[in-house]
Amino acid sequence: MSPTPVDLTPAENLRVLGKVLAPLVAQGAIVRRPQMTAWAERHQTDRTARAVLSDLRARHGGAPLVVRLGTRRVVVVTEPVDVRRLLEGSPEPFTPATKEKRAALAHFQPEGVLISSTAERWHRRPFNEKVLQTDQPVHDGGPAVVDAVQRGVADLSRQLRTSGRFDADDFAEAWWGTVLEVVLGPKARGDRELVAVLNALRSDANWSWLHPGRPHLREDLEGRIGSYLLNPEPGSLAAVAHQSGPATAVGQVPHWLFAFDAAGAATLRALAIVAARPAVRERLLAEAEPEGQEPALLPYARACVLESLRLWPTTFAVLRDSTGPTDWGERTLPAHTGFAVVSSFFHRDPDRLEHADGFLPEAWLDGRNAADWGLIPFSGGPAACPGRNFVLLVASHMLTRLAAHDLRVARGRYLARDPLPATVDHLGLRFRVAGSR
Ligand code: HEM
Repeated sequence: MSPTPVDLTPAENLRVLGKVLAPLVAQGAIVRRPQMTAWAERHQTDRTARAVLSDLRARHGGAPLVVRLGTRRVVVVTEPVDVRRLLEGSPEPFTPATKEKRAALAHFQPEGVLISSTAERWHRRPFNEKVLQTDQPVHDGGPAVVDAVQRGVADLSRQLRTSGRFDADDFAEAWWGTVLEVVLGPKARGDRELVAVLNALRSDANWSWLHPGRPHLREDLEGRIGSYLLNPEPGSLAAVAHQSGPATAVGQVPHWLFAFDAAGAATLRALAIVAARPAVRERLLAEAEPEGQEPALLPYARACVLESLRLWPTTFAVLRDSTGPTDWGERTLPAHTGFAVVSSFFHRDPDRLEHADGFLPEAWLDGRNAADWGLIPFSGGPAACPGRNFVLLVASHMLTRLAAHDLRVARGRYLARDPLPATVDHLGLRFRVAGSR
């Protein structure tokens, strides 16, 4: 039987709130706040959070930890077996549409599958799987994806030729161009107004219930997305979405665009490792495909992106709410209890992982990581990320093409060797071409 969840003492509760949950909320769950991510890196907040949870796990023998947040109870699990139970038990009896997620994401994607009821999920989830071709390693739109990536890389390459450097803002500019093109088609590539509207709504979402919401802005976003869905260009996700159900599409696209931000962060951090470790760069270049063929799978590049997500997870915590009373050990937890899996704690757990703080993409290639329910950059079970393969296609091709430049990353000495820092602020990364000043 699973261990019975334990109530934390007031002092323990305060430690979890202050050292684990508060830094995650402060950095912005939906859109990152640059000052706070810089602060988190300076203080290596993930290292502290891990220490707190490791200590509580040891003290309570791996029992789930019941944390009090005002009147709400959130059960923080500390063992992979409990992660598995939550994720395999989604969407019933553990719904991904938690109270916190609904309050936040409703600001810009009220119809998104992630915050849908089980009944709505019944058609929205298959729609997402169909358009994103979840089980297909390389999407049918792969050639168009590679073209879009190449244009993004060309923008950055031009900048490297003129100034010899780029930073996270420059990367974001090239990345969003690519994302808009793969999601909405080539005509959307320059539509930064759409990104600005989305980001304004995401920053409202960071405030969750505390922000009243801006329905006119949400309508604006839906109108802009709808205009691309009306006459979609071939090769884009919009084109597949149009065929698969235009009425459902407009409610799902905001999540796709939003989630690509995380993919950019993961790609940028992976690139920082490439710039700091010549051996990783050499392997990436060795598997790069010859010109003119179908998009290559690039397994090593995908593994590098996965490893970046393991080391620095972009989904801080995977959350679930119980839909009914739940027996756990000798306790019955009431319906609507919250559950949290703190990603960075599981992803860097030295008690389970020999490579906890090391860069080891090989562990994604040989099946070691896939077998571990604690390693969940894309979640797991029936509500796992349906965009995983699509993301890895875009990110791996971007990473490999950028690796063609001999880059150096500022403060690369911290990334050149293991153990790697617990927290890396991707918004603070700066690159330059080797030999330039
Ligand atoms: C590196 C980038 C990404 C990461 C790390 C990631 C990770 C995740 C995770 C952890 C979840 C589960 C969240 C939860 O259970 O609360 C999720 C859900 C989801 N993701 Fe992603 N995601 C990424 C990018 C994308 C992209 C680009 C798309 C679409 C193009 C996408 C589509 C979705 C959808 C539709 C869901 C909701 C699934 C459901 O509720 O059934 N994701 N993703």
